[in-house]
Amino acid sequence: MPNFTDTHQENIIELRGIRQSYDGGKNFIIDGLDLLVEDKPAQGQFVVILGASGAGKSTVLRYIAGLQRPTEGTILVKGKPIEEAPRVGMVFQQYSSLPWRTVLENVALPLEYQGVDAKERETRAREMIELVGLAGHEEKFAQYPTLSGGQLQRVAIARSLIANPDILLMDEPFGALDINTRLQMQDLLMEIWHSIHPTIVFVTHDIPEAVYLADDIYMMKPAPSRFTEHVHVDLPLDRNRETKRTQRYIDLVRLVEDKMIQITSEQ
Ligand SMILES: Nc1ncnc2c1ncn2[C@@H]1O[C@H](COP(=O)(O)OP(=O)(O)OP(=O)(O)O)[C@@H](O)[C@H]1O
Ligand SMILES: [Mg+2]
Repeated sequence: MPNFTDTHQENIIELRGIRQSYDGGKNFIIDGLDLLVEDKPAQGQFVVILGASGAGKSTVLRYIAGLQRPTEGTILVKGKPIEEAPRVGMVFQQYSSLPWRTVLENVALPLEYQGVDAKERETRAREMIELVGLAGHEEKFAQYPTLSGGQLQRVAIARSLIANPDILLMDEPFGALDINTRLQMQDLLMEIWHSIHPTIVFVTHDIPEAVYLADDIYMMKPAPSRFTEHVHVDLPLDRNRETKRTQRYIDLVRLVEDKMIQITSEQ
């Protein structure tokens, strides 16, 4: 059993001294980028990344998912160099399921790669499908319009969590959804966060969404990129639509907006 009273907390994600060049070191689009996300077992953390288009937000998620290496710098996931760290799943803006496979098969896919036997794969996938609110859709093909956009993103969330339930990376996951579906998905994420306590790193351009979801917001200055501003969101952990009507929420949205305007206009 992990000892939750142990106050020594490590970082679940560490990026240090990251530099990224695509022209052999003449220009660096990312330079001196650091991001430390504390490990809070049994609690999790919701980190939101904001930054101008092209600043490097998706790149940061790709580093953490092990899909890209920076030109320079250190990346640790769960205290291990990224090469040795457990693989972390990612939810993309575009629907990323295999349309010729069912919901159940899509969600179980990472377990197939891990060599988990068929019976356990099915049990664990069904649990995850239930968690994301897709019970009853297990045998449908994971394709539009058999499933709606929101349902397809639920499949992607379930698949990412089954690979590694401690960390969930999400790159503008609700950008393509209509407003009602988007609000439902925000609430689903809150539920997941309260039930399995993952650390979520979430990229969005939507500041009200960022403030609603986040514990901590990190803002990226562009050209060259690094994180220069941090806002801790001191709203109650239990949030709902009413939270968006509170003065503190409204003040935080304005604060983050002002900082973003300042960061992206200073060049
Ligand atoms: N292979 C590459 N060669 C050259 N430049 C690249 C390459 N890959 C990414 N870039 C550049 O790196 C920068 C960061 O890209 P990234 O996709 O991370 O931005 P982003 O912040 O996610 O933007 P958006 O909000 O539009 O999704 C961009 O300016 C992009 O053009
Ligand atoms: Mg991006």
